[in-house]
Amino acid sequence: MTGFSDRVEHVSISGIRKVFEAAGEDAINLGLGQPDFPTPDHAREAALEAIESGATDAYTSNKGISQLREAISAKHERDNDLVVPPENIIATAGGSEALHIALEAHVGAGEEVIFPDPGFVAYDALTHIAGGTPKPVPLREDLTLNPATVEENITDDTAAFVVNSPGNPTGAVSSEEDMREFARIADEHDVLCISDEVYEHIVFEGEHYSPMQFAETDNVVVVNACSKTYSMTGWRLGWVAGSERRIERMLRVHQYVQACASAPAQFAALGALTGPQDPVDEMVAAFEERRDVLLDGLSDIGLETPTPQGAFYAMPKVPEGFVDEVLDRGAVIVPGEAFGEHGEGYARISYATNVEELEAALEIMGEAADAIR
Ligand SMILES: Cc1ncc(COP(=O)(O)O)c(C=O)c1O
Repeated sequence: MTGFSDRVEHVSISGIRKVFEAAGEDAINLGLGQPDFPTPDHAREAALEAIESGATDAYTSNKGISQLREAISAKHERDNDLVVPPENIIATAGGSEALHIALEAHVGAGEEVIFPDPGFVAYDALTHIAGGTPKPVPLREDLTLNPATVEENITDDTAAFVVNSPGNPTGAVSSEEDMREFARIADEHDVLCISDEVYEHIVFEGEHYSPMQFAETDNVVVVNACSKTYSMTGWRLGWVAGSERRIERMLRVHQYVQACASAPAQFAALGALTGPQDPVDEMVAAFEERRDVLLDGLSDIGLETPTPQGAFYAMPKVPEGFVDEVLDRGAVIVPGEAFGEHGEGYARISYATNVEELEAALEIMGEAADAIR
């Protein structure tokens, strides 16, 4: 047999990449999913020191070095009011691997996984790869995930639902009340809630809550990463936190697909988490300023945009043909349908780029809007 697996049949190469390829090299890129800031010096230095001392030459323990897991545990206590012992944490190759092992460990053949639509592209793909059935659900008008929608879609075949706040591609932040509801749903229906919190520190209004804070059972696992918070997407360092039995199951997958997260990245993450946090505050302040520039510009163009309260994306409603018209004029934005069928009629604009570029792109968007009206 030389055929391909059904599990990969329905996984396509990300629609975002296709847009990049369609755009010219000098296009202004508002398609990026990563901060345009350097990794903080103290994180880089921690990695360099570890490399020079030879601490990175060997496999680490499968779950990751104990100092890092202690730092992540302390971070959960400090930021999330959560007690997650270091042994209940696995350091992973980014949030992506954390999502992958969470789904592999919990989703049975054909079981359903509910996730936001529009939503981060990996939820659909990784559900297929795990042999499950994706069940994308639409969002509220303000682009938050409604707990009632999740509850209505739960069936006997539901294995898990994914909550992502602050959200990609929406920038929407779930309220404390909604997070309490997600926890209740996970408890009462005995389904797993996978809470993807990779943007947790990039919040402008309100506060980040984790459903794990409110759950009475162990039916919530948290996925997080250094990628966005510390501008460390290239280092590939994330983690998953959960109860002992869930971690043990996820470790069964992690130990064979990854063995351990990259050792230099683990030391960099340790430096990032335990060092000064000012670079994060500075980055978040810059994102907020850019968000305001973008929102004002979009409103002048007449594009209705739910106010993003976090991450670094805005999702205006756009007329048909708008994204292509913008691309043709030299700026990259991503069509909403790249994030699910309910994303149609929207575009994702990333403001992980400087104000000058944002302003130039807004001019292009204004011309594009005029051209098709
Ligand atoms: C919502 C969300 N979750 C997870 C990830 C994966 O992050 P990582 O780069 O740590 O694998 C991303 C990356 O864009 C994301 O937007």
